[in-house]
Amino acid sequence: MGRIMVATDGSRGSEAAIAEGIDLAQRLGAEVTFAAVRPPVPDYLGEPLYQEHLREDLARARRALQQARDQAEQAGIEAEYELLEGDPAEEIARLAEARDADLVVVGTRGIGAVAGSLLGSVSSGVIRRSHRPVVVVREPGEHAREEAAEREEHVPSEVKPATR
Ligand SMILES: Nc1ncnc2c1ncn2[C@@H]1O[C@H](COP(=O)(O)OP(=O)(O)O)[C@@H](O)[C@H]1O
Ligand SMILES: [Mg+2]
Repeated sequence: MGRIMVATDGSRGSEAAIAEGIDLAQRLGAEVTFAAVRPPVPDYLGEPLYQEHLREDLARARRALQQARDQAEQAGIEAEYELLEGDPAEEIARLAEARDADLVVVGTRGIGAVAGSLLGSVSSGVIRRSHRPVVVVREPGEHAREEAAEREEHVPSEVKPATR
């Protein structure tokens, strides 16, 4: 196995992806490419808001890569770090091709996750666009939360404990 690509936005979901990517790399003897994509700042934001967003998004992407670097160095794996700009799913799929990645690892959820759907827009976009196998990693506790929510749904309302 040659190269594993891990997409990170610094969220809890991508922490799970980083951990899984490192674990796979160690077991398969693969190298890792970590990628964080800074999405475009909307044009309609005038100054100084535009610059503020740009700064924040850049700082967030850099933090995400630094977090990955800390973990990778601790694990002693060979890795490279890419900060990209543009549509995240598109850029991740494009880099996976450019690096000839054997597989791509993403989390289910990212920053500002909305409860409800299993996959975020970037993870589902990567699955749709990429010609490479995509490993989607759920964050710890996600199963337990979902099972609790399901149990709650199946309890008839008249026997449900009062919430307030
Ligand atoms: N800007 C980004 N750069 C790199 N990877 C990203 C980015 N956004 C999302 N990802 C990857 O996709 C996963 C799912 O995030 P996403 O689809 O954005 O969910 P949500 O819709 O909940 O934000 C993350 O855990 C991460 O692996
Ligand atoms: Mg997101």
